[in-house]
Amino acid sequence: MPLTLYACLLWLSTSGLWTIQAEDTHANVSMRSQHRGLAPANVDFAFSLYKHLMASAPGENIFISPVSISMALSMVSLGTCGHTRTQLLQGLGFNLTETSEAEIHQSFRHLHHLLRESATSLEMTMGNALFHDRSLELLETFSADIKRYYDSEALTTDFQDWAGASRQINEYVKNKTQGKIVNLFSELDSPAILILINYIFYKGTWAQPFDPESTWEENFYVNETTVVKVPMMFQSSAINYLRDSELPCQVVQLDYVGNGTVFFILPEEGKMDMVITALSRDTIQRWSTSLTTGQVDLYVPKVSISGAYDLQSVLADMGIADVFSNQANFSGITQEAQLKLSKVVHKAVLQLDEKGVQAAASTGLTLNLTSEPLTIRFNKPFLILIFDHFTWSSLFLGKVVNPT
Ligand SMILES: *[C@@H]1O[C@H](CO)[C@@H](O)[C@H](O)[C@H]1NC(C)=O
Ligand SMILES: *[C@@H]1O[C@H](CO)[C@@H](O)[C@H](O)[C@H]1NC(C)=O
Ligand SMILES: *[C@@H]1O[C@H](CO)[C@@H](O)[C@H](O)[C@H]1NC(C)=O
Ligand SMILES: *[C@@H]1O[C@H](CO)[C@@H](O)[C@H](O)[C@H]1NC(C)=O
Ligand SMILES: *[C@@H]1O[C@H](CO)[C@@H](O)[C@H](O)[C@H]1NC(C)=O
Ligand SMILES: *[C@@H]1O[C@H](CO)[C@@H](O)[C@H](O)[C@H]1NC(C)=O
Ligand SMILES: *[C@@H]1O[C@H](CO)[C@@H](O)[C@H](O)[C@H]1NC(C)=O
Repeated sequence: MPLTLYACLLWLSTSGLWTIQAEDTHANVSMRSQHRGLAPANVDFAFSLYKHLMASAPGENIFISPVSISMALSMVSLGTCGHTRTQLLQGLGFNLTETSEAEIHQSFRHLHHLLRESATSLEMTMGNALFHDRSLELLETFSADIKRYYDSEALTTDFQDWAGASRQINEYVKNKTQGKIVNLFSELDSPAILILINYIFYKGTWAQPFDPESTWEENFYVNETTVVKVPMMFQSSAINYLRDSELPCQVVQLDYVGNGTVFFILPEEGKMDMVITALSRDTIQRWSTSLTTGQVDLYVPKVSISGAYDLQSVLADMGIADVFSNQANFSGITQEAQLKLSKVVHKAVLQLDEKGVQAAASTGLTLNLTSEPLTIRFNKPFLILIFDHFTWSSLFLGKVVNPT
């Protein structure tokens, strides 16, 4: 089948993302290409978005879920036409000569399904919803498509009563995230006619837990002048570690139960920007193959990080501008009115804590080394990258500057 061959080529060209995990060796090629087909575009978009956000907010914590942003915007593209649509999909990193729109939406559907399935062993909630004003009659094809491919609802509300509408939206998100994401909108935000909501909550369970008894308050060096206290988790075990020879940083990789894997990156003092600039698929790939397992005394702050963003200006910087402008062509949503997207609100929350599966799993992992363990303390600004390694999705990218 030409499609299979094509997808296979696509897979080969992306196999460098990082080392294929052992459990995948028996999966067949069409399976692989199906669950990782979107990975190259999505991961490139992820790092690009991450860098743009960092540039727009230097010195601040950043926390986003790129895969859910890609998914949400791709969903919006279903309602767009003409140049608006092409620009949006290309802005997300898709080459429309190589990948048809139908394939993109099918692949997102499959990805959403896999991520949900993958999430049953951990706490993860992700979803999309579209709120629109009562006065706006949506085309049936649009409502059907967003439901079909993105499992998203289109909900009506009365945006004339913004206080009521924002309360309704906040309630909806709170409900969908089991109370973990609250107050997405305030009454002070400006009202709209169409709002796209995208939410994600993730709580991983470490494959090798930290011992809560060993969590102590320690200093975290925010910058030359500011030191804050954080609860610092500790574990001493066999850990994948790398002191990078090309970039001024150390890297630690920890796995969650299931498909989640986390890269903690500790840049040398003053070298944060240099490391961020170098982040790419190739860098992740290089790290994955260079990490080695050794006995490590690891200190990581126990934190809850959240980020809330209106992505409009960042996306515009990245070339996705039409949707927000008067040139927006949303005739896939309605032909009655001239629409434009007023906000793309994204909020992500991550809790890092000690919890993991019980020690049984880790007995075989303690190395018998005669040398002293290495000590790594994440007690100054660091980066955190969380991937789903089954689908190669960037679940979260974060920069922790000040954990308090
Ligand atoms: C490969 O995967 C496809 C898609 O799931 C499946 O239909 C096919 O039977 C599989 N082939 C082999 C040899 O496992
Ligand atoms: C939107 O795009 C469609 C298809 O390209 C076109 O027929 C329509 O005239 C456009 N509408 C507006 C308002 O530009
Ligand atoms: C899109 O893919 C085609 C065919 O592989 C290629 O020729 C073209 O240069 C690509 N376009 C971009 C913008 O990468
Ligand atoms: C909250 O969710 C439950 C079940 O998921 C549903 O029955 C209930 O109506 C929801 N409440 C609101 C306010 O959406
Ligand atoms: C250090 O961090 C504090 C708190 O975030 C901030 O107020 C201060 O401006 C920073 N100082 C420098 C030199 O960046
Ligand atoms: C990884 O994700 C796939 C797809 O959702 C799922 O079938 C598989 O069980 C997951 N693996 C683990 C170890 O949880
Ligand atoms: C660790 O290695 C030393 C020397 O190789 C050996 O004598 C000792 O029995 C080992 N301990 C364990 C727990 O395997």
